[in-house]
Amino acid sequence: MQIKTKNIFQVQFIFVKVCLPTFAEDLKFMARKSFFIETYGCQMNFSDSEIVASVLKDNLYEFEPDLKKANLILLNTCSIRDHAEQRVINRLKHLKALKGKNRGLIVGLLGCMAERMKEELFEGGVVDLVAGPDSYRELPRLIESIKSGNRAFNIVLSAEETYADIKPVRINSNGISAFISIMRGCQNYCSYCVVPYTRGKERSRQPETIVAEAVDLFSRGFREITLLGQNVNSYYYNSVNFPKLMMMVAQINPALRVRFATSHPKDLSDELIQVIASRPNICKSIHLPLQSGSNAMLKLMNRRYTREYYLSRVEAIYKAIPDCGISTDIITGFCSETDADHCDTLSAMQLARFDYAFMFKYSERAGTAAADKLNDNVAEDIKTTRLNEIIAMQQQLSLESNQKDMGKLMEVLVEGTSKRSKKQLTGRTSQNKVVVFNDTTHRGGDYVVVRITDCTSATLKGEVEE
Ligand code: 5AD
Ligand code: SF4
Repeated sequence: MQIKTKNIFQVQFIFVKVCLPTFAEDLKFMARKSFFIETYGCQMNFSDSEIVASVLKDNLYEFEPDLKKANLILLNTCSIRDHAEQRVINRLKHLKALKGKNRGLIVGLLGCMAERMKEELFEGGVVDLVAGPDSYRELPRLIESIKSGNRAFNIVLSAEETYADIKPVRINSNGISAFISIMRGCQNYCSYCVVPYTRGKERSRQPETIVAEAVDLFSRGFREITLLGQNVNSYYYNSVNFPKLMMMVAQINPALRVRFATSHPKDLSDELIQVIASRPNICKSIHLPLQSGSNAMLKLMNRRYTREYYLSRVEAIYKAIPDCGISTDIITGFCSETDADHCDTLSAMQLARFDYAFMFKYSERAGTAAADKLNDNVAEDIKTTRLNEIIAMQQQLSLESNQKDMGKLMEVLVEGTSKRSKKQLTGRTSQNKVVVFNDTTHRGGDYVVVRITDCTSATLKGEVEE
């Protein structure tokens, strides 16, 4: 009996000895309010993560760049294609192991997947918080409610929220380029796209707040801003349209470069083209998603323009701005796409002479018009073959475009040292092309005139012009 008691005592003692420090560490871990945020998908999401960082910092959370040390881990997610969602699902498996080790670790899912998958995201037992893109002001309250043992959930979409008064904390920035979100939502309802359902109705932000944000960034040493929205051409606030807004921002300082993304071809106005042509600090670069070069596909996609109209817009751009860089998005293997439709895309790419393209296989998204009414009937291997042909075509076009720049003098905004060598700098031209050149005298944020001497399909190489 005595021995038994002693044994029990010993067991308890060992238990206390082993567990006390871990318990204390757990308490310490939970007392510190730190967050890590990982962003998936489009530039808009990266911009949103900086808004989230601002809301949390105002509530005394500190940004923790090391995922293992944070006691709040947020994934800002994307639903545009199945692949994007699968990456997040895999990430959650990894976080499950981390959650087992760190008592009190909170995992939150933000962004489009939160909006699309809703409570389903709680099912794996890893996620404590699900918050859609219009509920980020609510995050501190939602997190507090988890601490009292609940799961937190808010996916209400707003018709007004623009986060205009929130000053983003630039966690994703290199100190030279920054995003400014000017509008949110999309109501174009392209038949394949989930965005109108996950991000809600279009709404624009007051121009004064946008200009004030750009002025502040410039005074802090930033030299390039990108005005962001799902469809910036739809920007409209109290008689200020997008071309007028661009002009207001470009007038802040000639040393501040202005870019924008993304435009819908149906709304790309002559007024906007003229504004881009008129100011040297508005970058000569337009992202204009084509999606398909086939009129039959464009109709099924509900893009509301024809191949001919798209190409006439491209010609209007080249006429007003001969050195303009044009990039695009292309979806291959959309519902019932034939070889002839695919060839139309290849020929449209050649006619438009794109400098760069983001190219994707069609991925059916539940709830979209295409998923409801059309058939995702192009076989996976055909989608792959067509995608490879489109990629090869774009590589050729990018190479040809870069070869045309040989011998030219180009103004480069330096972003930093190149990955390959500390003796080389890298930066971008107004057309958004990457330039690498030997130089140790300049630094990030400087403008340098470079003569282009060599190129690949991806990069221009050059020498500083003395
Ligand atoms: N499948 C494949 N690509 C898509 N995109 C949007 N929805 C889908 C989808 N369901 C592409 C379009 C868009 C870009 C952001 O993503 O090309 O312009
Ligand atoms: Fe999606 Fe079309 Fe809106 Fe772009 S314009 S976000 S592709 S619905």
